[in-house]
Amino acid sequence: MAVKLRPFLKWVGGKRQLLPELRRYYPASIGRYFEPFVGSGAVFFDLLNRDRINGHGAVLGDDNADLIGCYRRVGHSLAEVLAALEPLAEEHARRGRECYLEVRDRRFNPMRAAWRDRGANLDEYPAELAAMLIYLNRTGYNGLFRVNASGEFNVPPGRYDKPKILDRALLTAASQALASPGVTLRHWAFDRVLDEAREGDFVYFDPPYAPVSATANFRAYTGRGFSDRDQETLQRVVIELARRGVNVLLSNSTAASVAGLYENNRDARDAGLGAVRVPARRSINSNATRRGAVEELVVSNVEPPEAAGIL
Ligand SMILES: C[S@@+](CC[C@H](N)C(=O)[O-])C[C@H]1O[C@@H](n2cnc3c(N)ncnc32)[C@H](O)[C@@H]1O
Repeated sequence: MAVKLRPFLKWVGGKRQLLPELRRYYPASIGRYFEPFVGSGAVFFDLLNRDRINGHGAVLGDDNADLIGCYRRVGHSLAEVLAALEPLAEEHARRGRECYLEVRDRRFNPMRAAWRDRGANLDEYPAELAAMLIYLNRTGYNGLFRVNASGEFNVPPGRYDKPKILDRALLTAASQALASPGVTLRHWAFDRVLDEAREGDFVYFDPPYAPVSATANFRAYTGRGFSDRDQETLQRVVIELARRGVNVLLSNSTAASVAGLYENNRDARDAGLGAVRVPARRSINSNATRRGAVEELVVSNVEPPEAAGIL
C-alpha cells in the first residue's frame, strides 16, 4: 500500500498515541472487526495497515451522524468531496479565520439543518457537507465536534499557521478502505454490537471518557454526554461479549466510577477480563500545564504475547 493509513480527522480521544499499548491486545486471528465508538478510527486504520482484518469485514459505528455521513461520502463519493474541499482549502489559505466562520455559519450549519429537516438520511449526506466537516475539523479548535442547544455546530476557529486541509493521497487511501465490500458504517448506539458479534470476532470499545476529576470535564466535549449509566451498560456489553468468546478490548478512563467496573470486579474477572493501567497523554486540555501524562485503563480478555509466553 502506497500511503500509510491513519485518521484523516482529528478527534477528541483519538487513540493514535495509545496504539503501541493497544496493539499488544490485537488477537492472533480476527473474525469480523467491530468498532462501536469509531471516532477518527485510529485502531481500524492501524489494523488495516497491519493487514489484520483479512477480508472478514468490519463494522464501524458511532452515534455522531455527521461523522458516519462523512465516512460514507469519503468512501463512495470521493471525487465530489475532493472537488468541494479543494476550493475550501484555497479560500482558507487566503482568508483564514474569517473563512472558517463564514463556512461554519453561512454554509455548513444551514446545509446541515436542511439535511436534518429532510430526515437526516445518511445515504443522502451531501458531499459538500462531508467536505465542510473535514475542513472545519482540520481548522477548528482541537478538532472538536460540538453543537449548541439548537443543534448548530459551534466550535470556534483553531489557531493553526498552515493547517493541512486537503491530503489527497490519505483521503484516497481512506476512501478505498471505507468503501471496501466488507466494511459497514453504522449510525448507532454502541450496545447494538450485541446483535452481531460472534465468537472469534474482535471488538474494540473506546467510549467518551468520564472525567477523572471535576475540573477535567471531558464530557462537555462529547455531544450529549456519556453517563455513569452508559458506562454500566457498556460494562455489561463487554462482559456479555467476553462470555460469548468474542475478543474484546476496551480503553477507558481511570475515574473511580469506571475503574471499579473492571478492576477487582468479580463479573469481569469471571468473564476472563483483565484490566491494566497504562500511561497516556491526552491533548484535549487547552491548558498545557494540565496536559501531562495521565493514566488510561485498558481492559481485555486477549492475553498479551508476553503473558502467553510468546515473547
Ligand atoms: C473517545 S471517542 C473515540 C475515538 C476513536 N477511538 C479515535 O481513535 O478517534 C468516542 C466516540 O464515541 C461516540 N459516541 C458517544 N456516545 C456514543 C454511543 N452511545 N454510542 C455510540 N457511539 C457513541 C462519539 O461520537 C465519539 O466519536
